[in-house]
Amino acid sequence: MSKLRTLIRRIIIFLKHFVYTKVYGMHIHPSALISLKARLDKTNPRGIYIGKKSVITTGAVILTHNYVMGNGTFLDTIIGNNVFIGANAIIMPGVRIGNNVIIGAGSVVTKNIEDFSIVAGNPAKLIRKDETIGEYGQFVKN
Ligand SMILES: CC(C)(COP(=O)(O)OP(=O)(O)OC[C@H]1O[C@@H](n2cnc3c(N)ncnc32)[C@H](O)[C@@H]1OP(=O)(O)O)[C@@H](O)C(=O)NCCC(=O)NCCS
Repeated sequence: MSKLRTLIRRIIIFLKHFVYTKVYGMHIHPSALISLKARLDKTNPRGIYIGKKSVITTGAVILTHNYVMGNGTFLDTIIGNNVFIGANAIIMPGVRIGNNVIIGAGSVVTKNIEDFSIVAGNPAKLIRKDETIGEYGQFVKN
């Protein structure tokens, strides 16, 4: 039964990736893992960029527009390779996240984030730099 559930989940994730990239025109690398409960901005879908082996976990929100700044404020929000975005984090419009980065659960990311950083909080602040962040934003064991 659990194998069937896994298969159904994989099919849904594949179809969702297809819709995101081919229907909405988001730029999502095929190896990126997007939770079914993540929310990617469909008002400006072409502004979404998600790199290789990055993980967007449950409840995370990636924004690419901001009506507060006036109609038509559409910005590219760029997430690099090997980025882990924790549960319910919000990535604000126009933010650029580098490669090999971890965003803590519930963070609100308002500024660009450098490579090999771990950030958390609202607004997200650097907790530490860590060169051991590897694929899918996981720590590489030595
Ligand atoms: C960001 C994270 C990776 C940091 O883990 P860590 O390196 O073990 O960090 P620590 O627990 O030692 O915390 C370091 C500091 O950051 C703070 N902190 C950690 N995670 C935080 C978060 N999500 N939001 C705000 N502050 C956070 C801690 O309170 C601590 O603060 P202090 O130094 O003032 O005491 C982890 O806390 C996290 O959020 N993981 C994501 C979990 C998730 O989303 N899971 C769901 C999908 S698998």
